Amino acid sequence: MSIAAKRQKACAKLMDDVHAITVQEGITPSALHAIKLKLVALAKRTDLFPLADFAMPVSQGRNHPLLVEDNDGHGLYLTISLPGKVAAPHDHGIWCVNAAVSGRERHKFFRRTDGGDKPGQAVVVKVGEVMVEPGSGMAMADHDIHSTDVVGDEPAIGLALYGYALVNFPGVVWFHPQYKSVRACVSRRQPAMV
Ligand SMILES: [Fe+2]
Repeated sequence: MSIAAKRQKACAKLMDDVHAITVQEGITPSALHAIKLKLVALAKRTDLFPLADFAMPVSQGRNHPLLVEDNDGHGLYLTISLPGKVAAPHDHGIWCVNAAVSGRERHKFFRRTDGGDKPGQAVVVKVGEVMVEPGSGMAMADHDIHSTDVVGDEPAIGLALYGYALVNFPGVVWFHPQYKSVRACVSRRQPAMV
């Protein structure tokens, strides 16, 4: 069997495992933790993810679809983030689980503390931090807020599983703690899907 075929089979198995967990539990903190452990185990199989099969980004980052489900299902991607890539605190609007194949990416987690009553303004406070590196991962619930930065000189290569495919993503909400500002991007979801 080719590496690509082995990879496809392993990704399909992961997705089956994810559905087996969520059918039982829904998307709960313990379900997300269980999914994270499955994704970390898959990411450890580095032979399935040779760099030659995945083009590097020209700059910043790039996502390679591994398994994107039909019918508004989940999306599994191989993500490559180059050294220097940073993302300000943001809320995807949908749960997300990451696991590292190689390299290191720091995730800081934030909690919004204002009431959301002033348009364009928001206050977020840091509540935690995780280094996603080989053997580890992170999980976020639907409206958790994180920021990311690649640590070191190597690209951060990992697996990312999102509750929705990226092409069907809700509007990501970006926070700028220093200015106490917030900005929502346009949703990619169809009105019937929101
Ligand atoms: Fe993110």
